[in-house]
Amino acid sequence: MKSSLIRKQFLDFFTEKAHQIVDSAPLVLKDDPTLMFVNAGMNPFKDVFLGNTEPKNSRVTNSQKCLRVSGKHNDLEEVGVDTYHHTLFEMLGNWSFGDYFKEDAIAWAWEFLTELMKISPDSLYVTVFGGDEGDGLPRDNDAAAIWEKYISSDRILDGSKKDNFWEMGDVGPCGPCSEIHVDIRSAEEKAKVDGKTLVNEDHPQVIEVWNLVFMEFTRMADSSLKKLPNQHVDTGMGFERLCMVIQGKQSNYDTDVFTPYLKALENISGLKYGASASNQDVAFRVIADHVRAVAFAITDGQLPSNNGAGYVIRRILRRAIRYGYSYLNLNEAFIYKLVAVLVAEMGEHFTNLASQQDLVTKVIKEEENSFLKTLEKGIQRIEDVAAKGLSKMEGAQTFELYDTFGFPYDLTALILNEKGIKHSEAEFQAALEEQKNRSRKAGKIETGDWVQVSALEEQKFIGYDYIETESTLVQYREVNVKGKIRFQWVLNTVPFYPEGGGQVGDKGILEMAGKKFPVLDTKKENNQILVITEEAPVNGETKVTCKVDVQMRKASMKNHSATHLLHYVLRKQLGTHVEQKGSLVNEKYLRFDFSHFEKVSVEQLTAIEAEVNNLILENIALVENRNSSIEDAKAQGAMMLFGEKYGDSVRVIAFGESVELCGGTHVSSTGEIGLFKLISESSVAAGIRRVEAFTGHNALNYVNTKIESLDAIGELVKNTKNTLQAVEQVLEQNKQLTTEVEGFKKEQAKALQQ
Ligand code: SER
Repeated sequence: MKSSLIRKQFLDFFTEKAHQIVDSAPLVLKDDPTLMFVNAGMNPFKDVFLGNTEPKNSRVTNSQKCLRVSGKHNDLEEVGVDTYHHTLFEMLGNWSFGDYFKEDAIAWAWEFLTELMKISPDSLYVTVFGGDEGDGLPRDNDAAAIWEKYISSDRILDGSKKDNFWEMGDVGPCGPCSEIHVDIRSAEEKAKVDGKTLVNEDHPQVIEVWNLVFMEFTRMADSSLKKLPNQHVDTGMGFERLCMVIQGKQSNYDTDVFTPYLKALENISGLKYGASASNQDVAFRVIADHVRAVAFAITDGQLPSNNGAGYVIRRILRRAIRYGYSYLNLNEAFIYKLVAVLVAEMGEHFTNLASQQDLVTKVIKEEENSFLKTLEKGIQRIEDVAAKGLSKMEGAQTFELYDTFGFPYDLTALILNEKGIKHSEAEFQAALEEQKNRSRKAGKIETGDWVQVSALEEQKFIGYDYIETESTLVQYREVNVKGKIRFQWVLNTVPFYPEGGGQVGDKGILEMAGKKFPVLDTKKENNQILVITEEAPVNGETKVTCKVDVQMRKASMKNHSATHLLHYVLRKQLGTHVEQKGSLVNEKYLRFDFSHFEKVSVEQLTAIEAEVNNLILENIALVENRNSSIEDAKAQGAMMLFGEKYGDSVRVIAFGESVELCGGTHVSSTGEIGLFKLISESSVAAGIRRVEAFTGHNALNYVNTKIESLDAIGELVKNTKNTLQAVEQVLEQNKQLTTEVEGFKKEQAKALQQ
């Protein structure tokens, strides 16, 4: 069975059980600061589990792209070395939000695997939570009793908290889980060693395929467990592993999910996969895995960069380049060539891939070329040590090679060994640990538990219509962000716009019991708006007056609406290959990143600026539809962004022909923007340009300052001219004087002779 059919059968199966299919969310979630990338199928539903969002459907099924390369779930170093871990993988899931629980979840998992996928029950083992004293939790006897209806009890194994109590992070929703493991060893091997003893022992052929989580608790900051108001089901099945089992393979890489990349790599390198058990095969697997992760991340809007999530993507790509360089003799860019394979394989289900193919290819190629240069520089460093006749490379230097030049220790060791230079892995590890501690401290956010002060209702955002309101404090918590104490307030009615869609969060004032609290920022987390102050609310009080900083809001609005006009004009003038790749809108200026493959010329910039200003002069009225269906919005030609997670109902913002899906705040007609002035154009990455602009008073001030400086230059030129004239006059006078003096001298000489 082809992998695409396996995916389809899973989704069809749960559709028949009254589940709604939802698209995979993008890899980077915009309103979850606790996660760099989606690392489990449940992440996009966190707001539902936390009770912040009412689910539209209590049964959902999906195939979610996940990336496990940072934080609590991090598999990077294992990827390629073994045959069943991946950076990017698909997690097939079925979800019950306060609907069915253990009984149905277990029955359906069993039915799907044994009846549809025809996996023999003799190859299956299941685990149940064995209980934990520290948490005061007993064994999950309910799950065990249900399993006994399907599988003999000697195949039901008790698991530890580590394996059978699923937690998303240090705090948040969690619960006991039941895993399903498949033993794909040969009959001969099965007879020799009892499969039961190999479950959860990192055996490549006795592997977990499906995890059924019975979510009923939330982990608090003090590590205690609190019962959730409802019981939920979150299941996650590793798609690539399932394909391996169904296709009768011994490695995920031998399934049709990966073989096309391996074949393409064989053609590129002239080497054969499977011909060696050593690093050469590891390199094949690393590259086949990593190209998927990097390409999906770029498609979802996460470009490789020097920090944060972008740096993680850069590192994954560099790991692949380096494996190609060291073990497949590939010292020219090659990974970009695999993007076409990816689009051919996955473009049908993940439809964003094809339209981004050009961009992804160019970004990867550019990254490859620049890293290959870095690799050469790193190698030069090692050569320098050798040339100096030094017998050892110190830990600090091997770490620098890793940190600055992307050389993993084994690569450095390989080259040093060839040259007979000593090195110490312990020293390298010590330097690495030191850096990890430094960044852990720098990025530390400690979050206190919520203190509930009044009934939790569904929060209302009224900021599109009001900038002041009376409100009620529902709950608050203390957070420590890199040593600074802040308080996050959850109010039932909020006029403050929470940072999102590139637009900064509103500032303003909260008033409680006569005391004023400056609002430092407003953010959204798991679909909940958090108003941030420096001080804690007044004890025992709930009534709050909210006032948005109007000047700041208005200036941000101008910039946001101008961004839409700019986006529209860029596509009109440069072409529809222009796609938004990032934006920042605050009260000072706007910044807009977009795909375009060459510098925008001065003439083009002038024309773009002029057309945006024309649209401003036309004073086009805003047409806002807060509740459009996604289909209607698409039919209207609304621009949607890759990497955004859109619900079924969306907000459409139109100024004439500029139509976008957007949650931001906008002017009521374009004339309010006043003036639009581009101030810079530059490159952010291969194929991505950045423009910055001012609007309104800021644009006017900018233009005035320019004119003033031009005037000043004019004045200077005039003055310089006058000075030059004066100098010329003096010179002329000097000349005359000299002639006179010469004449006088001659006369004198003549007189003397006489
Ligand atoms: N959340 C669970 C996991 O990631 C099941 O989906 O394994």
